[in-house]
Amino acid sequence: MSNFETVIYEKRDSIAFVTLNRPGVLNAYNVRMRDELYQVLGAIKDDPEVMAAIFKGAGDKAFCAGADLSEFLTAPSPTIARQVRWERDIWGLFLSLPQPLIAALHGYVLGSGIEMALCCDLRIASEDAQFGLPEVGLGVIPAAGATQTLPRIAGRAAALEMMLTGRRIGARKALDMGLVNRVVAKSELLLVVEDMARQIASFDPAVVRGIKEAIVKGLDMTLAEGLEMEKRLASSLSRSRTGNSSAS
Ligand code: COA
Repeated sequence: MSNFETVIYEKRDSIAFVTLNRPGVLNAYNVRMRDELYQVLGAIKDDPEVMAAIFKGAGDKAFCAGADLSEFLTAPSPTIARQVRWERDIWGLFLSLPQPLIAALHGYVLGSGIEMALCCDLRIASEDAQFGLPEVGLGVIPAAGATQTLPRIAGRAAALEMMLTGRRIGARKALDMGLVNRVVAKSELLLVVEDMARQIASFDPAVVRGIKEAIVKGLDMTLAEGLEMEKRLASSLSRSRTGNSSAS
């Protein structure tokens, strides 16, 4: 897992650390990064030891400044076809991970950078974070999930405003609209995020995954369907704990 060019993958105790590692270009998201992240996400998904994963950006200036503009709309068609394939797969894979994912966001969080953060379950920002979806100005729509994930997280009006204006917002505004869970001092960002991951990792893995599954799946269901699913999950967890099939 260590031979990547654009991503660093580490596992310490039961926590996975994924670092976007192109600091010279503000961790811009290119095809290589997409391919490497795809492998990393697959490894996390299939690793029962991983209880939580942290996503962060290398360097001082950015979590990720979006799609690599040197590849953007300029690649020859076979590359574009490949890109589209990865795009579709990687965001689906991201959203299918059973473990809680935490994004540690500093500096620029733009385009696919914010879309990646939206695939995570918890977002912690440092005070210098700036969020934006500049795609409208580039003549494209966000296509790494933001048109669906952002309104579900921050609401319809806020999502439309960000996507239709392409304007950047700061960490405090992101907190007000529910885009991030917390804003912390930059020097504390990784400590806070790691502490949160460690707390999650201290609980029963089946319960942690059950809570994520119930909330994520439930958001796409009616309340009645969601409550039914919650009941099923709770009884299956309690059965697996007691070994008693009649427990409820
Ligand atoms: N793709 C490729 N390279 C990028 C990049 C991107 N999305 N964003 C930044 N870079 C590169 C710059 O070209 C520059 O490289 P250089 O040092 O070889 O010239 C380096 O990263 C530093 O960026 P710079 O523009 O000098 O930093 P800044 O602090 O002045 O501005 C931004 C930061 C984020 C405002 C500016 O880089 C920017 O607007 N980037 C594009 C954002 C974007 O539109 N992303 C696509 C979303 S779909």
